Amino acid sequence: MDQTELTRAGRHGAVDLPNLDALWMPFTANRDFKAAPRMLVSAQGMHYRSHDGREILDGVAGLWCVNAGHGREEIVEAIARQAREMDYAPPFQMGHPVQFEAADLLAKIAPGDLTKIFFTNSGSESVDTALKIALAYHRARGEGTRTMFIGRERGYHGVGFGGISVGGMVANRKVFRGGMLPNVDHLPHTYSAEHQAFSRGQPEWGAHLADDLERLVQLHDASNIAAVIVEPMAGSTGVLVPPKGYLDKLRAICSKYGILLIFDEVISGYGRLGTPFAAQRFKVTPDIMTTAKAVNNAAVPLGAVFVREGIYDAVVNGAPSGAVEFFHGYTYSGHPLAMAAAVAAQNIYARDGLLTRVAREGLDAYWEEAMHGLRDAPHVKDIRNLGLVAGIELHSRPEAAGKRAFETFLKCYELGVLVRYTGDTIALSPPLIIKRGQIDQIADTLRRALSSVQ
Ligand SMILES: Cc1ncc(COP(=O)(O)O)c(C=O)c1O
Repeated sequence: MDQTELTRAGRHGAVDLPNLDALWMPFTANRDFKAAPRMLVSAQGMHYRSHDGREILDGVAGLWCVNAGHGREEIVEAIARQAREMDYAPPFQMGHPVQFEAADLLAKIAPGDLTKIFFTNSGSESVDTALKIALAYHRARGEGTRTMFIGRERGYHGVGFGGISVGGMVANRKVFRGGMLPNVDHLPHTYSAEHQAFSRGQPEWGAHLADDLERLVQLHDASNIAAVIVEPMAGSTGVLVPPKGYLDKLRAICSKYGILLIFDEVISGYGRLGTPFAAQRFKVTPDIMTTAKAVNNAAVPLGAVFVREGIYDAVVNGAPSGAVEFFHGYTYSGHPLAMAAAVAAQNIYARDGLLTRVAREGLDAYWEEAMHGLRDAPHVKDIRNLGLVAGIELHSRPEAAGKRAFETFLKCYELGVLVRYTGDTIALSPPLIIKRGQIDQIADTLRRALSSVQ
């Protein structure tokens, strides 16, 4: 059965499964999946439809990315129109209008003067690109000794060698140790169950953890450090909300020593926290910002790196005229289909006020109440929330970390809600078009699921 048939059939009910053997699935327990497949065959608005004909409420916006909900007609149309008009154009030494239009729209919602946009195809590529921009910037200014990066424990910055090096996800680092970048150090993560458990929104405790950057600067010397990279809110390692004042401190220390501050907003960007970007929510402006996912509602792979004007100017004006100033780019940078989807998605976000809806309509307060209402559900160890994100951490079973969360995820799917899990934390981040009743449905389903797992 080809994809069209799967999709068509999915609209009407159950479909037969294709042969599962050939595909090596990413970040998946392949054997478990193939023994009991969970196949999504179509999607509309807040819902997926499964291969067995069930409607599944999307509690995670696909993978933190379908912020405007599924199947938006304007995006579908824009992609189809673009494919007909021009399928592909080379991005090196050539341009096409839609990529300039897309960059212009993004520059308009950027924090501060991060108004220069570099297109990639994913969050991982955005991170690699940001790290390279940092190196190129310092070199262009005659500070080529600044080659070191500071990441953070429990950070996730995708799967490229740059990203796993600055990231602090242990499972990701364990196997690939041999390929790690040299010259990387890490800040401590910002989570403490003792001081922060069941905080609503930003924890009061923990701003002082940013002071560790001072220690690393004393250890390595500022003249060697290119950039600090953090997720303003760590998503993939279990929703770790920054303590009040923490990001301000990081900003101040970076500015003091001429170190670039990179915010990885692949998850926190495009309205997830009630402002276009976390930078605006926390009122802390980085020097470079990496994004992807919801930039075009995830309709075609796309990433976008936002860069301060001064950094662009230093790199571009620092090169001889006629020379390629930044030796970097992808065959699919600014791909016409991805750009068409970006323009359409950004227009929807602007027209429907989606990038601020979560705060404007008090959805975040409703969400917080619903999530923290699960405090007395079985197995719950901690609940963390911010904007339209929540992490519900469960007590781990002895000798079986992650198993209880996996079973909860399976149970929720069976009960008609798609959630995510990382370690023993259930992570939630629904599309920003969610209705209050659907928030209740997510909470009720989780309570039922938690009551049924051992
Ligand atoms: C903060 C952050 N950075 C980077 C990435 C990697 O993005 P991608 O999977 O598109 O490469 C992710 C993915 O979830 C992420 O959460």
